[in-house]
Amino acid sequence: MMIESIKHRRSIRKYLPTPVEGEKLQAVLEAARLAPSGNNKQPWAFIVVKEEAGRLALAEATREQMWIAEAPIVIVAVADVAARGVDVEGLVLDEQSPLWELKRVIRDTAIAIGYLLLEADHQGLGTCWCGAFEQDDIRPLLGIPEDKFVLAVIPLGYADQEPPARPRRALEEIVRYERW
Ligand SMILES: Cc1cc2nc3c(=O)[nH]c(=O)nc-3n(C[C@H](O)[C@H](O)[C@H](O)COP(=O)(O)O)c2cc1C
Repeated sequence: MMIESIKHRRSIRKYLPTPVEGEKLQAVLEAARLAPSGNNKQPWAFIVVKEEAGRLALAEATREQMWIAEAPIVIVAVADVAARGVDVEGLVLDEQSPLWELKRVIRDTAIAIGYLLLEADHQGLGTCWCGAFEQDDIRPLLGIPEDKFVLAVIPLGYADQEPPARPRRALEEIVRYERW
């Protein structure tokens, strides 16, 4: 059941070198593909990086979290304002960009990544959403145009650790009824 993967998923920061089966990778990507998005614009792209040099470069660019490169696959999730009809001619996006359409595509791509993380758990695989990087450090590594926004660097592989659950706020604290 869905709730089992939601409860079982952890951010995994230690991986086995065991390769990930092609069908499992496809299932994980398929979950992202099927995510909902505003106006069904599906403003996302996923770059699958398997080559070691690429994984190492991504790990280094993600504030030198070198454990990321231990995973046999690193997926880079990219949000694309062009999917919402933005004229991207000459557009350069970064962390300071106030563009409303950027917020929308980040929102949508975050949903798809959430689905991806959960399906990975369902497939017996570990992941970790890593967001500690600058756009300018990641984009050139993979030839991503400057009008695209990199949302996450996600190692994918068999976990070599079983971290305990991190704390979450209580329902009473986050849910209000009828009004704020
Ligand atoms: C947007 C975002 C960025 C994150 N960036 C990093 C990161 O750069 N490095 C890291 O080790 N974990 C990162 N994490 C993982 C969080 O620390 C983790 O999800 C949180 O502590 C809860 O733990 P859990 O995922 O095991 O439940 C990130 C998570 C999110 C959602």
